[in-house]
Order: sequence, then C-alpha cells, then structure tokens
Amino acid sequence: MAGGKFTVTAALPYANGPLHLGHIAGVYLPADIFTRFLRLNGDDVVFICGSDEHGAAITLRAKKEGVTPQEIVDKYHRIISKSFTDFDISFDVFHRTSDELHHKTSQEFFLKLYNSNKFIQETTEQYYDIDFNQFLADRYITGTCPKCNYDNAYGDQCEKCGSDLSPLDLINPLSTLSGKSPVLKSTSHWYLPMDKHESWLKEYIQNGVLDREVHHNPKLWRNQVTGQCMSWINGGLKPRAMTRDLDWGVKVPLPNADGKVLYVWLDAPIGYISATKAWAEANNKDWREYWIKNQAVDRKLVHFIGKDNIVFHAIIFPILLKDHGDFILPDNVPASEFLNLEGDKFSTSRNWAVWLHEYLASYPDKEDELKYVLTSIAPESKDSEFTWKEYQARINNELADILGNFVNRTVVLTHKYYEGRVPERGGLNEADKALIQDLETVPRKIADLIYAYKFREAQSEVMNLARIGNKYLADQEPWKVVKNDPERVKTVINLSLQITANLSLLLLPFLPKTAKKLQSMLGIVLTDWREGGTCDLVSAQSVINAPEILFAKIEDTMVEFEVNKLNQTDTLSQGTPQKETVSFDEFSKMDIRLGTIISAQKVEKADKLLQLTVDTGLDQRTIVSGIAQYYSPEEVIGKTVAVLLNLAPRKIRGIESQGMILMAENESGELSFMSPEKAFLAGGEIR
Ligand code: 2FM
Ligand code: ZN
Repeated sequence: MAGGKFTVTAALPYANGPLHLGHIAGVYLPADIFTRFLRLNGDDVVFICGSDEHGAAITLRAKKEGVTPQEIVDKYHRIISKSFTDFDISFDVFHRTSDELHHKTSQEFFLKLYNSNKFIQETTEQYYDIDFNQFLADRYITGTCPKCNYDNAYGDQCEKCGSDLSPLDLINPLSTLSGKSPVLKSTSHWYLPMDKHESWLKEYIQNGVLDREVHHNPKLWRNQVTGQCMSWINGGLKPRAMTRDLDWGVKVPLPNADGKVLYVWLDAPIGYISATKAWAEANNKDWREYWIKNQAVDRKLVHFIGKDNIVFHAIIFPILLKDHGDFILPDNVPASEFLNLEGDKFSTSRNWAVWLHEYLASYPDKEDELKYVLTSIAPESKDSEFTWKEYQARINNELADILGNFVNRTVVLTHKYYEGRVPERGGLNEADKALIQDLETVPRKIADLIYAYKFREAQSEVMNLARIGNKYLADQEPWKVVKNDPERVKTVINLSLQITANLSLLLLPFLPKTAKKLQSMLGIVLTDWREGGTCDLVSAQSVINAPEILFAKIEDTMVEFEVNKLNQTDTLSQGTPQKETVSFDEFSKMDIRLGTIISAQKVEKADKLLQLTVDTGLDQRTIVSGIAQYYSPEEVIGKTVAVLLNLAPRKIRGIESQGMILMAENESGELSFMSPEKAFLAGGEIR
C-alpha cells in the first residue's frame, strides 16, 4: 500500500547532555527504520526532529556547569546533531527550539488558543524560593511522591512510578536551587482544562474515533501506550498550567506577562511544527500539507517517543491540536519502554551509560553493527537490556556467521566458478521452487511488520532470509555438485545471488551502510522496496565485484574494555578514564616528532581516510589518517603536526601506513591536529 502520507517525529532531545544508547534504541533508531522504509516504499514522508532547548532541564544544567543556558544549548545541540549525522539517522531536518521561527510559531499557537478561550487564567499559591527569588515549578522542586513514596520525585512527575504530579502534591517539598523548604506565594497562570476533554480522548485513544471520523487503527497502538493513557484519564485529568514564571523560554505573548514563559511541554511539541516550517522553507515545500487537516487527504502523524513522554504526546498535545482546530491529530504514538545497561538503569550522574558519540569515535566503522544489536533488543513492548556480551554474540553469531557468511560464500563462488559473471539459471528443482516461494513473501511480511511498528520482528525476518540462503547453499552443496553437474551449479549460484540482491534491498531500512556495500558488490542500485521478492534483481551475464568482508568478529578484549570502562563510575561522560601508568622508559620508546604534510589525497571508497605524505625530517613517508571528516586534503597541506614515527607499519585499505598523526579529540568526537605554537620545523622531537 504505497502512496501513504506520513509526518514522522522523533522526540526532541533536551540539549542538556549527550545521547546514550537508551535514547537511540527507544526512539531514534526505530523512527529512522520506519521513515527509511516509507521512503523506499514510495510513501510521502517528512522526518522531523530538533533539540529541546527550554525548560528546567536546561537551566538546571547551566547552573550546574556554571554557564548560561544559551551556552548549554549551543554546546549540546552541536554534540547531539553531530552524533545523529555520524550515526546516519536520516532526519529531513534537525531544528532547535531556541530558533526565532519556533518562538514565533509557538506564540501564535498560544494566542490562537488564548483568543478562542481555551485557557483558564487562575491565580494560585505556588512554591517560591526566597533565596533565589524564583517560583519553583517542575524540576525546580523535589519531594516524596504521594503515590509510591519515592523521595526524589520532581514537581511535575515521579520518575519511579511515572505519576503525573504537581508541586503541591509532593510531601516534604524542597527547592532544588537552595535545598531549602519553599514558601507559598501567589502567581497567575493560564491553565489548560484537561478535565473537559476526557470523553473524546477516551474515544480517540481506545477506538481511534474522533468526530465520527476514524483517525487511526487502535489495534496498532502499543498496549502500554493505550494502557497508560486510559489509566491517566480514568484517574481524572486535572487542569495543567501552560505557563511558568521563568526567564528562559518562549515569552508569553500577552501584556502584563513579564517574567512568564510558555510551559516547555507546550512549546516543545510545537517544535515539530516549527521544524517542519524551517524544512519546508528551505526545500520549497508547503509545511501545511504536513500538518493541516484536509478531508481529502489521509496524512498520518506519528510520534516516536520514550514511555516517559506518553502523556505529553498522547493526551496533552492532542488536546492542544484539537483546541487549535486546524491540525491533524497523532495517528500513532509508538512509545518504547526503557533500555537498561548491564543489569542497571542508564544513569548520567553515575556515568552508567554508553554514549553514542564515544561509541562512534571509538568504532567509526561499526554503526551498522550497533544498529543491528539495538534493533534486535529494542524495548518495544517491555524493558530490555544492552550488554556488551550480547553485542558481541549478535555480531559474531548473526551478522558475521549468518549474513556475512552467506554473502561471502555466494560472491566467492561466483568468482571462483565464473570469474564474477552472474550465471544463467537452468531448470528449477523442488528446492529452488521452495526458495523462490519463500522469497516472494518476505518483503510483504516485513512491510506489514514495519507498518505495525514491530521493528524487531521485521529485522529478524530479514535475517531469516539470510538463514534460508545459508541452508539452501548447505543443502545444494554447489562445491560438490560442480564436479559432476556444473550446469546445476549455475542455477544454485544464480538463485543465491538473487537472495543476496534481495537482502541488499531489504536491509536498507535497518543497516543502510551494509545494504549499500552489498549493492555495490553486486553492481546494482536498488531504491524501491516494491522491486523486492523477485529473482530478477541481478541479471545473468552481469559482472559483480570482489567479495568484501562485511562484518569483522568482535574480540573478547573489546568487550572487556567496554565493560571496565563502565565501572569507572567517577568519570564525566565527556572524558575517558586515565589509562594505566607507564614508566619513563616505556614512554621514551615512542618516537614522536614534528612532521610537515606535503601532499594529501582522499582514500577511495573510505569517507574517513586521507592518504598523506609527511616530511618527518628523516624521510618522506606515507601515513593514512582517519581525519577526512574534519580536514580536506587542500587544508592539510603545509601543516606541521605531531607524528608517531615508530608505530609498526600497518596496511589500511591496501595502503601501508608508516606512522600515525597524533590528534586531539573534543567532547563531540571532533579531531584536531596538534601543531606547535611556534614555527618549528619538521623533525623537531616531542618529549
Ligand atoms: O523527554 C525529553 O527528552 C523531551 N525533551 C522530549 C520532548 S519531545 C517533544 F515534545 F518535543
Ligand atoms: Zn511515585
């Protein structure tokens, strides 16, 4: 069913810290798989994200780091967007809520609701910190949760039991600014009377029906999402303030509202709309097509989020959109449960986390490996767990031994028997027919699973096809049959190549880099899901390229290193722990000198590598360096940099590298040369 129309959003991450694997597995990767699939399937889709730069999450972080909120959001917006780019998450736009366009969009939205009397203005007593002259909403106040007794609940939510709270609900409230008990002071705010919306919300969430129009298929909503929403609604919704007394955020666009900003959970989801506007403006599109109701067009709005965001996307935002009147409502809110790490919850403060930017800096060529593992264990319907042992096992036993092995055997045999030329098929036996039949059903099956937001199962169906291919080869034994019946082998290899080609298409949403590598191995370009399921993807007589190993096995040493790194709980997320001490003698073994780069070129088919010729004062030598993302060849020529001369030569992409350029790395994984401050010449020793 191609031709669908989708507006897909992924939760705007707070620009107050880097991303860890929990964020990726729960939100960004499934959203990316979904949109990549929709694009391949010929659906019309826009994929929206950006950073969430308001609210207490930001101001409290700024206070902790002793800098301004603007500095915080600038820093983390940069780190987060770079990680997304490096991990190849295919957003159409990654916007930010501090942008002018967003302030204007959310103010207009607020005014539309205000002018149509959708808010109630109320003056109430609220907690106030006298030392800091500030009202204490949301995360500015903590206390004991009245529902579960957790003693670190926030003023807006208990992270332990998930209850939706207001500061006055907390037992023993304390200001997070001064640590003292707050006083009560009166202030005026605009409230959204959520209680008035209970009845249509029930219909909408349970039955997918709104105003006698069917808006979604309720069967496609995850149980935990419907369950959580219904428990909130049945517990009775309360009016919720849509403004705050703060100086960081979108200003309330009304007279006499000085010192008041929009509630971050009002402005953040409107950020999806602003981001769409920014994208549309830059791409000559009309943003309205993606958001505004139009009886003639069935456009589906889909919000990928984590479970702590359910109430905001499945209750509050739909109320706001409906109150506004012009907008479509979410068709689905596929919320994930949480991912745990090595037996414990992810925790920034304890540095119990695997940070995406650190992973990408350490293993720049293993994005697809991580994608595969995270989708295999995605917390779609219940909490799940990432362990480095499982990471290793899934890569070694599944990616390498099943997928890699099947592709490798097929491509190697094609070269061995036919010099890389795809053989013609002959008559088909029962096994061939069964294989073709299996193949025909796979793309549809995967598509149905993806449309049902079941990405784990969908990916495992792709792997099943590789399993089927492996079994086919093992049963047909072309390496034996070739002696007596070489004609038969042509059919077996042709069909195995067709399976490989199908894999290169079906893998595109999940492992895009691997899929493209496979296509280039086969010399084909496939961009349409609907081409899949047939045996005509590689034509007989075409010539395929040499085999390349798709996945290297993960060694135990990597697992040990990563697990140990986790145990270094006292380090900041931005720094790796100090290494073991070395003696002066050990250090002096390293021959580090200044070298001047005299020529540079890109290494073919390796986006990260430059091949350099370096004058070391002793000689001119070739060094391959992984800096191409940060420096162009033109830029590096003439630079004098630190070089490790006596590193054992290594072959990188077939080029012998005789040394290593030493680089400095910042918290976002960017690399910089280490050059002398004074104009020193090549050959100068570094000690
Ligand atoms: O929980 C969070 O990380 C929020 N920043 C998500 C916001 S999603 C949307 F509403 F903007
Ligand atoms: Zn609680």
